[in-house]
Amino acid sequence: MRADFDALAAIGATPAGGVSRPTFGDAHLAARAWFLERARAYGLATRVDAAGNHSAILTAGGPTLLLGSHLDSVPDGGRFDGALGVVAALHVLVALRGSELRCALEAIDFTDEEGTLVGLLGSEALAGTLRPGSLAAPRGGRERLLDGLARAGLREERLPEARRDPASLAGYLELHVEQGPRLARDGLQIGVVTGIVGARSFSLDFRGEAGHGGTTPMDARRDAGLAAAAFAVAANELVLRDFPDCVATVGDLRLEPGAFNVVPGAARLSLEFRSADSALLDALESALSDRALVEADRHGVTVEIEPVGRWEPTELDHDLQAAVERAASALGLRSRRLPSGAGHDAQALAAVTRSAMIFVPSDGGVSHDTREHTSWEACVAGANVLLGTALELAR
Ligand code: HGY
Ligand code: MN
Ligand code: MN
Repeated sequence: MRADFDALAAIGATPAGGVSRPTFGDAHLAARAWFLERARAYGLATRVDAAGNHSAILTAGGPTLLLGSHLDSVPDGGRFDGALGVVAALHVLVALRGSELRCALEAIDFTDEEGTLVGLLGSEALAGTLRPGSLAAPRGGRERLLDGLARAGLREERLPEARRDPASLAGYLELHVEQGPRLARDGLQIGVVTGIVGARSFSLDFRGEAGHGGTTPMDARRDAGLAAAAFAVAANELVLRDFPDCVATVGDLRLEPGAFNVVPGAARLSLEFRSADSALLDALESALSDRALVEADRHGVTVEIEPVGRWEPTELDHDLQAAVERAASALGLRSRRLPSGAGHDAQALAAVTRSAMIFVPSDGGVSHDTREHTSWEACVAGANVLLGTALELAR
């Protein structure tokens, strides 16, 4: 498992020790091809579905127990996010070759978990929950989605063919780094995930008037960049003040034309916010939309607010949580139950089959950055809990 993990980390590796494997980029496609090649080397069957989900399969009679995560990454991300879950799932199948099992085991790499294009694209396609809206206005933009699908040899109109009949599934298990500080802080080895936050993404398009940076008087400007920046600050203050259990992120802000000496006539801002509570998400959505209109007005510009992604808060299966706890304690590992502030493919699978997640500690709680790190001992402990849980379910 270590040799495979290190080989995978070399695909799309960044100089500082992370990876950059945005969906359907060369590195991502190479990582997926590597995964199938390793599966075949271990004598496993392989499969790629209509949404590009890549699988290694240990065939047996009965329903299929899915184990997996994702090989795509955020730009300049860490080498553990997603990759650990896929490699560990592969090695659970390798370890169980020749065992008497009452269900097939499938190690799966889901397409575009991170939302470079859509977000949970492969897992929602498999679950049959992909909304037409998320393809019409995807957060990576329609252009990039179509280009990406073409690069991967996929057809938008065939994505729904990836849907699995829920009766064919025995469940879904995902090993993942916590991407937060709690396990490391509490000195615990295993996190049993109780639920996953909901998230909503919007693209805000501020429009003012481009002007000469030297001759346009300060009191005569319709500066779209200033309005967008004012909104970013106001949004942060609003969440801190009124929504203590929520998070909001402005992760991208582009000014046009983007020159030293031109007052920006346009600004495009990415907004994402999350909560475990749907009612709070609704309240946050209206508070932030109102705030955007206020800031636009104050700066004499207009703003268009376009929804580009929506994932509901999800509870994970209680029986499977108990199975994970049993597997952890059988290995003498200390675990605790905790919610996930990160989104995961498990929240898509939970709509159609009982799903569970196993967390292992992230050093310093760091993720989505090349500094992301989890000790190999913790990775192996997590993989063994995945194995133990899978064994209980498969027997
Ligand atoms: O954005 C997330 O929470 C996950 O890492 N895709
Ligand atoms: Mn992930
Ligand atoms: Mn991630």
